[in-house]
Amino acid sequence: MLKGKDLLSIHDLSVDEVNEILELGHELKAKQKAGIEHHLLKGKTLGMIFEKSSTRTRLSFETGMYQLGGQALFLSNRDLQLGRGEPIKDTARVMSRYLDGIMIRTYGHDRVEELAKWSDVPVINALTDLLHPCQVLTDLLTIQEHKGKNLKGLKMAYIGDGNNMTNSFMYGCAKAGMEFVAATPKGFEPDAQVTKNAIEDAKETGASITIIEDPFEAAKGADIVVTDTWASMGQEDEHEERVKIFKDYQVNAELLKKADKRVIVMHCLPAYRGEEITDEIMEAYADVIFDEAENRLHTQKAIMALTMCD
Ligand code: CP
Ligand code: NVA
Repeated sequence: MLKGKDLLSIHDLSVDEVNEILELGHELKAKQKAGIEHHLLKGKTLGMIFEKSSTRTRLSFETGMYQLGGQALFLSNRDLQLGRGEPIKDTARVMSRYLDGIMIRTYGHDRVEELAKWSDVPVINALTDLLHPCQVLTDLLTIQEHKGKNLKGLKMAYIGDGNNMTNSFMYGCAKAGMEFVAATPKGFEPDAQVTKNAIEDAKETGASITIIEDPFEAAKGADIVVTDTWASMGQEDEHEERVKIFKDYQVNAELLKKADKRVIVMHCLPAYRGEEITDEIMEAYADVIFDEAENRLHTQKAIMALTMCD
């Protein structure tokens, strides 16, 4: 179903396609743990364009391609002519002549859309200012591991900045039939168009999407509590000001008293202890949080195998 397609946003995927990615992700994880060869992309090459920093994304895509029998090329914009102003539409057409897939991490979402428009090979969005779909698909897979395969009706509370993660969570929870509540300060709500789209997507699965201000209200009875940095990549200059604005939006022991007794806490990482999450809570839920980091590998292998296969 996904063969030859781009993965720019979870909104573009059907519910069946989301499930297909998750199913294959679980299967590839089991195969890798059992030492069973799964060279689904033998001889294929992925180009990885990074215009922002990364630890998990680079490591998981690069290792993932290797485990699938292919190879990955790390391309920072300091090295590419793209970084010196070569147009995306030319870069896309050139890269399509050499590669079987392109992964990109960048600022404006329009750059990824432009790349996909001009590229003949699948393009995978590895984070923009607007969306981080690979991370949220990974998070759905991780929730399935900890809460069971049926995600329908589970409540996720997102606490903090309405950013690329929040936007993608809304799309992911809508496709999974979950109850999503975000608590964000006034003026820091998730993207208005994405919210509208997600509310529309939610109708298909019986999911719900709610944006409020009160973190304690959001956390009430939550099965999953999740947060992310208060200052995303590109917002470094706003850090000091944001620490003041978001001080009441911390995932800590007091907030978690409101959640379900069997709550799990998630964080895409990197985490800033003492800001969006306390050290105590990070360490208490480290098993889930580092499963989540590991699962980038398995979920993205599924995404690459499904989009880049012959
Ligand atoms: N969560 C995530 O995308 O991590 P990196 O920025 O390290 O890739
Ligand atoms: N919102 C964060 C996510 C990092 C993986 C950022 O964009 O920096």
